Amino acid sequence: MIAAAPEVRRSFDRGAARYRQLAQAQARMGTLLWQKCPQTADTVLDLGSGPGHWTARLAESYSDASVLGLDLSPAMVRQARHSYPEIGFVQGNAYSLPLQNNSLDLLFSNLALQWCPDLRPLLTGIHRVLKPGGRALITSLLPGSLEEIHQAWSQAGALSRVLNFQPEAAYQKAVTAAGFSHFHLEASPQVFYYPTSRDLLQSVTGIGASGGAGFLSKDQYRRIHQQLEQRRTPQGLPLTYQLLVMELIK
Ligand SMILES: C[S@@+](CC[C@H](N)C(=O)[O-])C[C@H]1O[C@@H](n2cnc3c(N)ncnc32)[C@H](O)[C@@H]1O
Repeated sequence: MIAAAPEVRRSFDRGAARYRQLAQAQARMGTLLWQKCPQTADTVLDLGSGPGHWTARLAESYSDASVLGLDLSPAMVRQARHSYPEIGFVQGNAYSLPLQNNSLDLLFSNLALQWCPDLRPLLTGIHRVLKPGGRALITSLLPGSLEEIHQAWSQAGALSRVLNFQPEAAYQKAVTAAGFSHFHLEASPQVFYYPTSRDLLQSVTGIGASGGAGFLSKDQYRRIHQQLEQRRTPQGLPLTYQLLVMELIK
């Protein structure tokens, strides 16, 4: 599935209220990115900030810095402003960052870029707003992510709603074309376990990270749950994310 911006916005609007409660996998993947944060930064953007929890951590960590969160979803921005009224959040699109050229020391972005199919203008825009020597720390997802859901849907004869994730080579090409002087891309599988198939599906659909279930017959619904259940391990039902961590320096 390729999602257009209005559809992505609506989907995350629906997920905003329960995002923090359900997005445990996203939080754990974000900590891998957090570990790469530099010691100091004066100007920071959290791109695709969702309900704002990473923005708040950034504001706490860089206490003298100007820190801004930006998200496409108005409901996510409302949620973030409500939880962290002392921090600035704007509704906007990653493709047209409302920032001056050469203005950021750090751009942090956890699991938002996989929603942006056109990587070249996106990374060119990120390069534009970074100061020379500024850093972008970004996680995104690669093909093979949510494969268990994709397969369960397909085997039940339903149209899969899993995103068409772009390969690492596409990111590499876009990063190079954008003109970053140094960059490091690292891919790794991250597997999370859930007690039930309902919990597993909720961890994706409940936070808005899918285009919705679409129409499913009762039989398809039952077969999807059965397919997921067949993968049970002693730790629970697995869900795989193929994580890409990018460290880009202008
Ligand atoms: C999976 S959530 C991640 C939220 C947060 N960064 C976190 O780590 O929990 C993805 C977020 O990216 C936002 N997003 C998707 N496409 C975007 C775009 N083109 N511009 C800005 N934000 C976008 C969504 O609205 C959503 O809040």
